[in-house]
Amino acid sequence: MGGRYKIAVLPGDGIGTEIVQVGVAMLEAAARRFDFAFDFEEAPIGGAAIGATGEPLPAATLELCKASDAVFLGAVGGPQWDTLPSDKRPEKALLGLRAGLGLFANLRPARILPQLIGASALKPEVVEGVDILVVRELTGGLYFGIPKGIFPEKKGGRRGVNTMSYSTFEIERIGRVAFEAARGRRGKLCSVDKANVLEVSQLWREVIVGLAPEYPDVELTHMYVDNCAMQLVRQPRQFDTIVTENMFGDILSDEAAMLTGSIGMLPSASLGSGGPGLYEPVHGSAPDIAGQDKANPLAQVLSGAMLLRHSLRQSEAAQAVEKAVQTVLEQGCRTGDIAAPGAHIVGCRAMGERLLAAFEG
Ligand code: IPM
Ligand code: MG
Repeated sequence: MGGRYKIAVLPGDGIGTEIVQVGVAMLEAAARRFDFAFDFEEAPIGGAAIGATGEPLPAATLELCKASDAVFLGAVGGPQWDTLPSDKRPEKALLGLRAGLGLFANLRPARILPQLIGASALKPEVVEGVDILVVRELTGGLYFGIPKGIFPEKKGGRRGVNTMSYSTFEIERIGRVAFEAARGRRGKLCSVDKANVLEVSQLWREVIVGLAPEYPDVELTHMYVDNCAMQLVRQPRQFDTIVTENMFGDILSDEAAMLTGSIGMLPSASLGSGGPGLYEPVHGSAPDIAGQDKANPLAQVLSGAMLLRHSLRQSEAAQAVEKAVQTVLEQGCRTGDIAAPGAHIVGCRAMGERLLAAFEG
């Protein structure tokens, strides 16, 4: 028997429950085939937790995550919570998990699958072969820097403040994750900053440059964030691995996601140093289609594959799950969000059944 792993399952809101069910079923299938076992334990987060406990991230949920080998999360948020003060909103739970588990490295792969090339808003010849990994710093920068807040001004009116700040330590540790990731890919790393204007970016660039001699096999380049936003749609194939600040990475990873046609396909991993990793789809809770069996579970399933690979070192199992996704797409099986005209449209549950059949067949 090849090990027993404890997984915290946090379905969250909207389509979270439906897609996590499919994701868990695939993880269970992987465990059966590759001879290991899971203990899944579910806990509330986001709007679901606000309803149950008044808090978007209950202490018990964070404790469960800390005591697990990995965290498997669906999605949080919805219009019914949009008017709550910002520290009570479902999104706050994500920031609390990231900070509470020390998840400073967010890996967001954006790879175009040949079966879905027509689904991109860009021309096929532009997006063909795109395979980008965005490494986003996740516990520092503009999201967490202090001072932050809304303050009264002496002369009347108020001032909103956030601070983009990074220490050399924070830049070095995300830099190392990115160099290592690039090394395992095509050996190209582009560090994205705004060093022509921001001091924090000047330090960022200096520290990243300082790491380069340790990774002579990786080709390091630098790009300003505005140019990167443009180059991603102009010539996305020039990128292999991108490393960047929290807020820049939030924006650029959505843009990179859209190259692939559907944000419904993209998984993510958030990693710290040693503790449990967090795995979740890049997309949100899609309240407009929640509970209607229309959601695309593939990003959740692919997040499960990342969990197998990064937290459990079960890379064969991860590959088998990814292959099952390719197989169902090759069979022409599509949820509504990735359907070309004439495609065979299935619901979330049926997609899950097809995946299991492909995995086990
Ligand atoms: C993301 C999301 C979150 C972020 C929000 C929901 C807090 O946009 O994971 O990219 O800004 O980090
Ligand atoms: Mg985002």
